[in-house]
Formats: sequence, structure tokens, C-alpha cells
Amino acid sequence: MLETFETASVAYAPGTPQPGRAAYDLITAERFEAARQEITTWSGYAPTPLVELSALASRLSVASIIYKDEGPRFGLGSFKALGGAYAVLKVLHHEIEKAAGHAVPMADACNGKYADIAGQTTVISATDGNHGRSVAWGAQRFGMPCRIYIHAEVSEERAIAMRALGANVTRIDGDYDASVALTRKEGEENGWFIVSDTSWSGYTETPSEVMAGYGVMTHEINQELNRAPTHVFLQGGVGGLAASVTAALKQHWGDDSSRVVVVEPELAPCLLMSAKAGEATVAVIEEETLMAGLSCGAPSKLAWAILEQEASDFLTIPEGVVGPAVRLMARPLEGDQPLDTGESAIAGLAGFICAAMQEELRKKIGLDENSRVLLIGSEGVTDRSLFDKLMAAG
Ligand SMILES: Cc1ncc(COP(=O)(O)O)c(C=O)c1O
Repeated sequence: MLETFETASVAYAPGTPQPGRAAYDLITAERFEAARQEITTWSGYAPTPLVELSALASRLSVASIIYKDEGPRFGLGSFKALGGAYAVLKVLHHEIEKAAGHAVPMADACNGKYADIAGQTTVISATDGNHGRSVAWGAQRFGMPCRIYIHAEVSEERAIAMRALGANVTRIDGDYDASVALTRKEGEENGWFIVSDTSWSGYTETPSEVMAGYGVMTHEINQELNRAPTHVFLQGGVGGLAASVTAALKQHWGDDSSRVVVVEPELAPCLLMSAKAGEATVAVIEEETLMAGLSCGAPSKLAWAILEQEASDFLTIPEGVVGPAVRLMARPLEGDQPLDTGESAIAGLAGFICAAMQEELRKKIGLDENSRVLLIGSEGVTDRSLFDKLMAAG
């Protein structure tokens, strides 16, 4: 079952971790805490499970593996539920305070007291599925119009899920980066508020709030542990997830924090390329990866600024490990809990298994029988037909 990982072709680039303030200054502790205080009051909030994969740990000769299963998050299927919706609320709250000319409690932005302002505050976003679903859910919750742009390869199932939340969903011809570019243009031309999970020069405030929202997940993990994992394997799209988890771990555990390993699809390796170039670098996407949430050509500037200082290792994984990793989670080694996962959720896991099984990589990344590994299962099954196809193939 694990042979595929042993022979998979994995690209590696070392990071250049260095002392710096990015993990503290770009998403401050206050910002993480404000997001946590707000989001944990929302109806439907419950910490997601942290699952121990003991049989797999023993098979791979590491001390422990824990897998944060974001499938149940707010019934939306992914960790993204935490970020986009919270950033939508921050936009609305800001507009309300601007119009009122004085401070307004956050609760009043949520409870319909300013429904007229909410109704005139249109949010707009590009997405490959999960972020848009969160933005649409937030907009519906707070009574705001919402426009979402998706690219040609985003599954219709994902578009339907966003329309069901009241979003106006437009499919474009190009790829994810083209949908981001169109969002910027339309947002600026129409006075709509861009709620993006990626950032660029001059646009960092909202993405920083999105990443602060993701911090709820890392806070829950930190509360369950009495010491930091030695390693965390984090899948990267634009890098927002990886940077948020990295910053929240660092702020909690300080110098004892985990070694950060970033894992991307080999078809969308913008963070590995950035590590090699020593600066944020765009990757040309020639073919879409199965890991739809990770199909991003341009790194988030904000995320890269954190990962540049904090990440030790960058990996890419081939498409061929996606099916085996999804199947391994659904039909695990005896003793481990079966989990249905999405194809982007298992990228960190797949990168870790490859690293644990390939001697040279194992050494480079410092994995051994004392390693305590954290994985973020960033989504449940958000595309049922793809999941069924992957399951049937093995
Ligand atoms: C399920 C899932 N995992 C991971 C990611 C990657 O997050 P980021 O783009 O912030 O790196 C995404 C992005 O959409 C996602 O949907």
C-alpha cells in the first residue's frame, strides 16, 4: 500500500530559516485572538478532531502522527470556513463604523442592526472552491451581496455549493490566477470589496484577517498538546494556510516550535520556486493538479514573507500519490481511524510519507523515531465525484 510513496519522485529545496519578526508582526497575536474570540461565538462552532494515527506512525518509524481533521468545520467541509467568512465580517464592520462615525460593537454587524449597510456592501472573490464557499457563507450570514469568480477547472459541484449559499458565481476561461486578476479589476471598477485569501503589494489587510481566522484551528491544536510537534507538514496553495499555522505555532511555542515543511503539487510549485529563487516567484501552471485547492501560480506576498523566515524545507509531490493517500486515509492500517478526505487535504500527509520512506529525504528533514508529526487535514470530501473516482481506482 505504501510502495507508491517510497518510489515517488519528490523535488526538494531547503528553506533558509532565519531570526525575524514576520511570524509575530504580519499576523499579530492580537489579531489572532480577536478572530478567535469572534469565530468561537458563531453558532455551529465546535473544535474539529485531532486524530492520532498510531499504526501509521509505527509503520513509518516515527514517535507519533496527529492529523487535524477540518472536514467537519462549520458544515462547510474545510478550514477555509474560518478565514473568508471572518474577513467578510471585518469588511462589513469597518463599513458600518465608517458610516456611523463611531465605534460599533462587532455583535451589531452580525445581528442585522445595520442591514441597510450590509445590503449595499458587495464582496467579491476568486476561488478554487473552499475559500469562495466561506466568503459566500459569511455574506449570506451577514446579509451582503456576494460575487464569486471560478476558473475553468473548478468542479460544478463546488459552484453549486456556492450558489446554494446565495452567491452570484461566474466561471471564467482561464486559471486560478486569471480569476484573481479579474476579481481585482471588477472590484476596483465597481466599488466592490475584495475578500481574497491571497495578497499582493498594497493589499494585505483583508488577507491578514483571513489568515487570522485560520488561527482558530492552530489554537485548538495548541490547546490539546503539552509540547510542540517536532515537524509540521503544510500543504501550500498561495501559502496562506502554511503561513498562518506557522505563525500561530511560533507565537505559542517560541523557539521550541515545529520544523516547518511546505508541500505542494509538482504542477503548482510556486513556494518551492520562491525558496529556490530567494524571493516570491510565480510558477506557470501548465496543467491543473487534482489537488484543486493547491493549484496556485502566484504566492501570497504576505504568506511568503512569513514562510521565507520560518520554513525549513519545501517539497513537491507528484499526482500519482494523491489517490493512494486518499485511499490510505479511508482504508487505513489496522488500528487507525478511517477518514474520508479531500484531495488537497492529504498533500501534507503524502509529502510526509514520501519523506519518511525515502532515506535521503528522511535524513535531510531530520525525521527519526523521536519525531512527532503534525498534519493538517485541510478538507473533508468537498468534491464527492472526484473522491468516488479516486476510491474506485485502488
Ligand atoms: C483544502 C485546502 N487545503 C489547502 C489549501 C491551501 O491554502 P493556501 O492557498 O492558503 O495555501 C486550500 C486552498 O484553497 C484548500 O482549499
